[in-house]
Amino acid sequence: MLATTAHLASGLDTLRISLHILAASVWVGGQLVMAGLVPTLRQGAPDLPAKAARAFARLSWPAYALVIITGLWNTMEINRSGASIGWQFVLMLKVSLVVAAGLLAYLHSKAQSASRRGATAGLGFVASVTALVLGVALAG
Ligand code: HEM
Repeated sequence: MLATTAHLASGLDTLRISLHILAASVWVGGQLVMAGLVPTLRQGAPDLPAKAARAFARLSWPAYALVIITGLWNTMEINRSGASIGWQFVLMLKVSLVVAAGLLAYLHSKAQSASRRGATAGLGFVASVTALVLGVALAG
């Protein structure tokens, strides 16, 4: 496939996409970092993972709100009149996964058992990463 000609994005496009990617990296990357830290935190004190999770929630929920706001901004900026059915389907699938990821993260924060906590965290992460990959596909 031929590469597209290299060109610079406009200032506003750079701002919009940078904010979208920054928020997405906090939401998705933060989940991965939290999962990696939990075993070490547990060695410190039994309540440390919960405290760290609450601290992460203060960053992750604003990031989730920002990824949705900038995602809507992306959708308004793109000329969708000529978009293929495939592109529209991927956008719908992505938005559904983002909603599912938010719901799973909320259920994760309320989960009382370890199995429910693990399942909601795992599924939420898979939904978030899939939404990220679909975002890259949408950018074309
Ligand atoms: C967990 C939430 C989300 C993640 C992780 C995510 C991630 C991404 C990523 C990595 C890109 C590629 C950016 C690029 O290479 O230019 C992207 C693009 C895009 N996203 Fe999202 N996104 C999320 C939520 C949303 C939502 C809620 C919407 C719509 C309401 C949306 C609409 C779009 C669109 C239309 C593009 C293409 C932008 C362009 O071509 O300029 N995203 N997303």
